[in-house]
Amino acid sequence: MNNIVNIVKELNEKFNNKQTQDILQYLLKKYKNKLGFSSSLGAEDQVLTHMILNIDKNANIFTLDTGRLHDETYALIDETNLKYNTKLNVFFPQSQAIENLYNTQGINGFYESIEKRKACCFVRKIEPLQRALQSIDIWITGLRASQSITRENLKIVEYDANHKTIKVNPLLFWSEDDIWKFIKENKIPYNKLHDKGFPSLGCSPCTRAIKNGEDVRSGRWWWENPEHKECGLHIK
Ligand code: ADX
Ligand code: SF4
Repeated sequence: MNNIVNIVKELNEKFNNKQTQDILQYLLKKYKNKLGFSSSLGAEDQVLTHMILNIDKNANIFTLDTGRLHDETYALIDETNLKYNTKLNVFFPQSQAIENLYNTQGINGFYESIEKRKACCFVRKIEPLQRALQSIDIWITGLRASQSITRENLKIVEYDANHKTIKVNPLLFWSEDDIWKFIKENKIPYNKLHDKGFPSLGCSPCTRAIKNGEDVRSGRWWWENPEHKECGLHIK
């Protein structure tokens, strides 16, 4: 444990004021197949996918297919694979767990309580994430500090005590404008839902479009309070 704390501290010092590409270059060279990037196919993640595959075309990029994603997101998996001549790794929920979930809370039980919502997120996202993290030492994410009050105090490199792994957030200090400038300049394929008022993407029944001026995550689990709006992927 002490060792991990030291690694986190050293990496944070090393990455202070470094460009995102330099951070990725360093990590991909050092950790190779012990590194994995989780992509939700959102705008931030498409930026990282582009940068990572330009450094290492065999890098481990994985997505958690909850079974409830938007058609636009599935289309982007294919488009991304085609454009970068790659095949994103996809983790699916366990079928028995999905059947149990249905038997205990029905198809859309997540609207009824936070407990039921978290039970669904656990089966569809967290358990598959735990499997994805088993074989890696470094977990890269597309988190940005300005996305939510729950993300304001993150560091570039964190020890994620919940998932017992080192988590790196190379886009932490990027603004939404920075993301879109990079996407347009590099002609990166992006999720068509972003053109329809969805800045933050999740599962289809739990994500809706927002109006101009609304908080970027206000369309996620819109029936819950802001402090509950994490599915457990990013709780420390
Ligand atoms: S969430 O916790 O609310 O769902 P958000 O959508 O903001 O997270 O995404 C933050 C980061 O979590 C993404 O950049 C990505 O690294 C990871 N992530 C979220 N959803 C998925 C998913 N379905 N598959 C893989 N990674 C994901
Ligand atoms: Fe289930 Fe909604 Fe969580 Fe997706 S976001 S796993 S549908 S509760």
